[in-house]
Amino acid sequence: MNVQDRINEYWTGRAPSYDDYQQQPARLDADRAAWGAIWAAALPAAPADVLDVGTGSGQVAHTIARLGHRVTGIDLAEGMLERARAHGGDATFRSGDAVEPPFRPARFDAVVSRYVMWTLREPARAVANWIRLLRPGGTIAVVDSTWFPDGLDASGGDFSRWYDASVRAALPLAAAPSIQPTADVFTAAGLTDVRVTPLTTILELDRTFGVAPGHEVQMQYLIRGAVR
Ligand SMILES: C[S@@+](CC[C@H](N)C(=O)[O-])C[C@H]1O[C@@H](n2cnc3c(N)ncnc32)[C@H](O)[C@@H]1O
Repeated sequence: MNVQDRINEYWTGRAPSYDDYQQQPARLDADRAAWGAIWAAALPAAPADVLDVGTGSGQVAHTIARLGHRVTGIDLAEGMLERARAHGGDATFRSGDAVEPPFRPARFDAVVSRYVMWTLREPARAVANWIRLLRPGGTIAVVDSTWFPDGLDASGGDFSRWYDASVRAALPLAAAPSIQPTADVFTAAGLTDVRVTPLTTILELDRTFGVAPGHEVQMQYLIRGAVR
């Protein structure tokens, strides 16, 4: 089993609990409002063609579709795609590698992702491919954090079983000590006006409602850049 297969197996197994956590009623409305505002500010005017890479159970894709965009979500974990489709809505979902998305050049106005950069096996190649998918003036906007500053092997259970040493060695951004190395990938790829924005509204929601088991409250960042 190769590195990506191990990642896919983990996320397919994790899909039900991951999705259930994201759908928890107490937080759903506040989440939708906060993330809707974040993506509305980050993206071009609707309607635009938006690709959500590593869409998981589709929460970002569905949020962006509700803003009036035409959204396609791709993932390699079938369990996640099943969950994403089960939520209905106007976004479409298909299997596809975030490192090499299966679309023609200049197909989209924006490429987005959330919580995916850390688990990409070749982030520089991925971002170069995302740029090729964009029309002139297009946007790349991703959200991530420093989830494992002490290394991924600090976590236990099913996660450590699938994210074994071979996987950890293949993920350049997984144990980054700050968000800067992720932003550097965008600058090195030639994006202009690369900006890192701390998401304080999400931090406040996490403080109010708590975070998923095994996680700690920590700042998340939006990284946004443009192609000429
Ligand atoms: C932490 S989840 C984030 C899901 C979703 N973006 C969200 O915000 O909830 C990471 C997702 O990235 C997906 N993923 C990881 N590597 C991928 C790749 N190379 N191609 C497509 N999806 C990938 C996983 O299957 C998983 O669904």
